[in-house]
Amino acid sequence: MAAPTAEELREEFLLDPDVAFLNHGSFGACPRPVFERYQWWQRELEREPVDFIVRRLPEELAAARAALGAYVGAAPGDLAFVANATTAVNIAARSLDLRPGDEVLTTDLEYGACDMAWEWVCERAGARYVRAPIPLPLSRPEEVVEAMFAHASERTRVVYVSQVTSSTAIVLPVEAIVQRARGAGWTTIVDGAHAPAQVPVDLAPLGADFYAGNCHKWLGSPKGAGFLHVRPELQERVDAAIVSWGYAPGNGFSERIEMQGTRDCAAWLAVPDAICYQAERDWNEVRARCRALARRARDELTALTGTEPLAPPEMLAQMASVRVPGAGRDLSARLFAENRIEVPVSEEGLLRVSAAAYTTQAEIDRLLAALAR
Ligand SMILES: Cc1ncc(COP(=O)(O)O)c(C=O)c1O
Repeated sequence: MAAPTAEELREEFLLDPDVAFLNHGSFGACPRPVFERYQWWQRELEREPVDFIVRRLPEELAAARAALGAYVGAAPGDLAFVANATTAVNIAARSLDLRPGDEVLTTDLEYGACDMAWEWVCERAGARYVRAPIPLPLSRPEEVVEAMFAHASERTRVVYVSQVTSSTAIVLPVEAIVQRARGAGWTTIVDGAHAPAQVPVDLAPLGADFYAGNCHKWLGSPKGAGFLHVRPELQERVDAAIVSWGYAPGNGFSERIEMQGTRDCAAWLAVPDAICYQAERDWNEVRARCRALARRARDELTALTGTEPLAPPEMLAQMASVRVPGAGRDLSARLFAENRIEVPVSEEGLLRVSAAAYTTQAEIDRLLAALAR
């Protein structure tokens, strides 16, 4: 069976048909069949809240964790669902026993909210958050490793890095970074907010101490489905944001993190449905088509703006960021107001196009035409 076309897939999404939605990256978009399963879970909960939460939920969550574990190459007991990758990064950062003078090594390409979490944690511990400048444009993935570790010191204790960066949309060589950091005896934290279903995620061989991921971006889960993966030997010192029944004797890491009083877990329970949705639609072929579209869009945008690509094609996945000289966030607002094109532009003038399963060349052409005008 051939993979469905972008036009066929667009029919399955709930997106406004008038909008050229080129910003899947920020919050994802959920296909209708998965969204219906999500609402089905919510109705199951409301039919008999006590039966659902007290008697059914533990097993259903275990099944959802097992499906996610099989998908990301992890033991289900090493995974905990959280609301989003920001929560997972926060939990990981706060679990470290940072001391005055310790350094957390990262890049200057990280996501702003997570930078804020790290600055907050480091400030309280008297530690330093060291954002190694990554020289752009890059010509090889190894340049990231070299630039990052040039800022390591005898005070480095932790290495934090994104698998796919946010506004620059670059796939970083996290395997090499984790390997080198672990070799030095440092704790490793990978921010995989953009990774699952956009790039291969295989947590066992990656070997990071902590991995923060999202299912609501590229896996197409409903919003509120993130996860935290922690190596078994570190789990005991990882605390939830809220202490609740998960802390009762006999509970493991997953329960401790997930149980936070009464809550709607439907987005987590729909994760296996999101995995199935893609598996049933030949997602490898869909992804290959999206990658080709992202690369072509990047070439067309750099030709239009007369700017250099930020990284070589092998460091791109389903997003491409291009510098638009003189542009800022107001360009994004104008493109939406005047052309119904949803595309983010950072304060630094980086315009990021997402090539999602439902994205067409015609939508990219609409963006190119609007930018040319
Ligand atoms: C690299 C990175 N980390 C973390 C996040 C935060 O994701 P969420 O809002 O789902 O927590 C994002 C969001 O785009 C991101 O790009």
